[in-house]
Amino acid sequence: MQPIRLAHVTDLHFGTEDPAVVAGLRADLVRQDVDRVLVSGDLTMRARAVQFHAARAWLESIGCPWTSVPGNHDLPLDRPLIRAVRPLSGYRWVVDAHPEPLLHLGGLQVLGLSTPRPYLWKGGRIDAGQVARIGTAFAQPARLRVLMTHHPVFRSRQRPRERVVRGAERALHAAARVGVDVVLCGHDHVQAQVDLSQAWPGLRRRMIGVMSGTACSRRIRAGESQSYTVLELSGKRLLLRVRRWRANRFETLAETWWRRSADGWRK
Ligand SMILES: [Fe+2]
Ligand SMILES: [Fe+2]
Repeated sequence: MQPIRLAHVTDLHFGTEDPAVVAGLRADLVRQDVDRVLVSGDLTMRARAVQFHAARAWLESIGCPWTSVPGNHDLPLDRPLIRAVRPLSGYRWVVDAHPEPLLHLGGLQVLGLSTPRPYLWKGGRIDAGQVARIGTAFAQPARLRVLMTHHPVFRSRQRPRERVVRGAERALHAAARVGVDVVLCGHDHVQAQVDLSQAWPGLRRRMIGVMSGTACSRRIRAGESQSYTVLELSGKRLLLRVRRWRANRFETLAETWWRRSADGWRK
């Protein structure tokens, strides 16, 4: 059976992008030969049309399919009327008319949820309707089930005081019930991987939580650099490879193997 090879890319923040990293990221994604790029939001810095167009053009330039959800920066912060009435209009117009994509393709299932809200400054929420959607979206048989949100469903070691997305716990219980394998998120601009059943005791399944750093913006946290994650499924094994920007190129920072077992995934 063919491996499934994905790249998790997040927090591009066009408007504050570093052109050298943007070019390096495209070249590295081509080198990694991924089947699909999954983008977990904050494509722009200020939800400007020119920034959405730059993000879209960059995604198209990679030459492989991509799936995206919006982040809090993709809602206009400084235009309150648009923010209140049509918060995702720029994103929908330029990036994707469907901010909550559902993909079933070649054994891969991806559900993306839109977590930013106009009434939350930078936080996010998964509401009851979205939890219900998790319950129905993954009904078909699949080799890999991926849930993607912008806001994190777990706290990273580097930023232990950051808030998780509102509704994270009930969303994860729903995800565990339908056999989700991996939850992808961004927003914190750090790279992290966790066993979500340890972060959230009581989950009936061991799912993997993956966070990647900002992919190509200058908004890097202390001790971090721009990064993204390659996920490669072959048989019952899932390889997570963190690629980080260093000395003018992307290089592998860490590789972690996870193995599928009866109750989910173990390192
Ligand atoms: Fe961000
Ligand atoms: Fe964000």
